[in-house]
Amino acid sequence: MIQHIDHIDSPEPEATRRDAGNTESSRASRGWWDRNADEYQSEHGAFLGDDRFVWGPEGLDEAEAGLLGPAESLKGQDVLEIGAGAAQCSRWLAAQGARPVALDLSHRQLQHALRIGGGLPLVEADAAALPFADESFDLACSAYGAVPFVADPATVFAEVRRVLRPGGRWVFSVTHPIRWAFPDEPGPEGLSVAASYFDRTPYVEQDERGRAVYVEHHRTIGDRVRDVVAGGFRLLDLVEPEWPAWNSQEWGGWSPLRGNLIPGTAIFVCVRD
Ligand SMILES: C[S@@+](CC[C@H](N)C(=O)[O-])C[C@H]1O[C@@H](n2cnc3c(N)ncnc32)[C@H](O)[C@@H]1O
Repeated sequence: MIQHIDHIDSPEPEATRRDAGNTESSRASRGWWDRNADEYQSEHGAFLGDDRFVWGPEGLDEAEAGLLGPAESLKGQDVLEIGAGAAQCSRWLAAQGARPVALDLSHRQLQHALRIGGGLPLVEADAAALPFADESFDLACSAYGAVPFVADPATVFAEVRRVLRPGGRWVFSVTHPIRWAFPDEPGPEGLSVAASYFDRTPYVEQDERGRAVYVEHHRTIGDRVRDVVAGGFRLLDLVEPEWPAWNSQEWGGWSPLRGNLIPGTAIFVCVRD
């Protein structure tokens, strides 16, 4: 989710669009999430819930959506959550009888997972190099974790495929690609096309020395489908959650106003062949 620039104790970063490779993106993500985990959890923790599985700012809940399969089928399944943050989704999975492992790049995010508790296995690692043996998991999932932030999703998908058992689902949510054509604003100013949907240049916030401190990567819908297929997965569904009437909460550029007009989240439901 494109974030608004923070500047706790350093000069305000400059927002730009420029190339950013794997190493720079990964370093920027770790630093940003370590610095901003406290604020993120205090701002969004109540909405996420300590043990709910929410796919994005619309509030689509896995308990109703069943994108990983019916809740009853999760019992006894080995599940890898990628970019788990404070592991809210993993806690819900554990409550269904699954055996989740919560993986994240950010030490501070995982400290929040420890603070909330639940005794889950937590792993600090990059999604591009998963520290697990081949075919270790029945399912892999990610709610806005890792995929929007990596320069090379193909590497992540190859890793996910490697650690999944045949027939395992890989379900991940990202900012809906159409949002990249609009300003990341929740109000009416966020409703006019301001950039090309086809411009894949990453969004980068950089410090005064030109070092990236925050990076997000854009892929069109077609790019994402091709990544999924090229990664050895079959696409079962592409879910675009509608903004529900009960949700009056703004989250960055996600708002009821925009959510009622254009999709804000895309969820890819894939299966490893
Ligand atoms: C928007 S948060 C989502 C976390 C959680 N699913 C939630 O909804 O709060 C993105 C998470 O992805 C993690 N992340 C970003 N890049 C990553 C990478 N390359 N590998 C693993 N985790 C990554 C961040 O540290 C952060 O915790």
